[in-house]
Amino acid sequence: MLSENIRKEPIVPVMLRHGERAAIATKIRDAMPLIASAVERNMTWFGQRFPDAACRNGQYPVIDNQEWTTGFWTGQLWLAWEWTGEASYRTLAEQHVRSFGERIAKRDCTNHHDLGFLYSLSCIAGSKLTGDREAKYIALQAAELLMERYHHRCGIIQAWGELDNPEQQGRMIIDCNMNLPLLYQASLATGEPRYAEAAKRHIEQARRYIVREDGSTFHTYYMDVRTGEPRFGNTHQGFSDDSCWSRGQAWGVYGFLLNYLYTGDKKLLALSQTLANYFINRLPDDLICYWDLALTDPNSERDSSASAILACALLELVKQLPVTHPDRESYEALGLKIIESMIDRYFNLTHQQGEGLLNHSVYHFKGNVGVNECCAWGDYFLMEAIARATSSWNSYW
Ligand code: GLY
Repeated sequence: MLSENIRKEPIVPVMLRHGERAAIATKIRDAMPLIASAVERNMTWFGQRFPDAACRNGQYPVIDNQEWTTGFWTGQLWLAWEWTGEASYRTLAEQHVRSFGERIAKRDCTNHHDLGFLYSLSCIAGSKLTGDREAKYIALQAAELLMERYHHRCGIIQAWGELDNPEQQGRMIIDCNMNLPLLYQASLATGEPRYAEAAKRHIEQARRYIVREDGSTFHTYYMDVRTGEPRFGNTHQGFSDDSCWSRGQAWGVYGFLLNYLYTGDKKLLALSQTLANYFINRLPDDLICYWDLALTDPNSERDSSASAILACALLELVKQLPVTHPDRESYEALGLKIIESMIDRYFNLTHQQGEGLLNHSVYHFKGNVGVNECCAWGDYFLMEAIARATSSWNSYW
């Protein structure tokens, strides 16, 4: 689908009432020490190990550094350190950086594209915050491994599985938009354009094929590895092949925007807004989406993590759009109101060791994994959204 043909839905303007901004700021200020304490409790609980991707019966199983999600915990530690200046958060985050170094050296559970999620929030963040040269070098090794998944004829990074797996060859997924910043960072670090060139080619293929004419997205899309031609889209975690998986759409809103930040390509900025408007128009009253945007039954499970990602993207859009842009004020109001809703209705106020921060996420509904639980990225993006709302936060992405 050429983005020239993609329809951007209008949104109903949203404004903050008089005093609402200050009231939200107070709620956020009150929540921040609770979050920092919850992170501290979990430091004791997880020790040198990591939370699993999602909670099971309200608590994270403790795992080694092997899932695609372990960097979200490191990202929380870096944010908690930025908020409080407490050395213990930084000390553990630096130990994580070394763990990520061992993981990449051993290629331990690295045969997937989520190296961007893992290494942006651990090693790129560490290198940006403390100037750690080893962290930068480890991130470069991760970028090198991610490049092995780049298929030249298709111009995409293969999402999952071994590179010779016929079921997975030529398959890209919307989530990958968030993994590409690792490649741009590698070009910046080395001066070698090949990493950024692969990222630009992938995002162009995602722009053309993963986005549908109505501004929704496929979760996954197959290219023909023999010809490089497009084949078809389908879903893995969404409701159906022609529905719109909420978190995928959130990865799209944020991921196209992050790629705009590195490339300056205005088409990506416009596409991020198109996807955002489609998402906004399908939010329930409390602004926390159901796990698929096709769902309208109020008894459907929510995916709070997708709304947390959306809030981060909306607050970044506010930074990128001119003050005269007609949707800018609404994006800001919605970003802040999503944070308010997460704090008022979805925040785990009775946090115990091993529990998460943001209730009511869905990892994989049909696989019955992490349904109506906290998840590692939901907790992380709640914190990132708060960082964005309270400071001129210097992004880890
Ligand atoms: N990137 C996988 C997910 O969002 O569940």
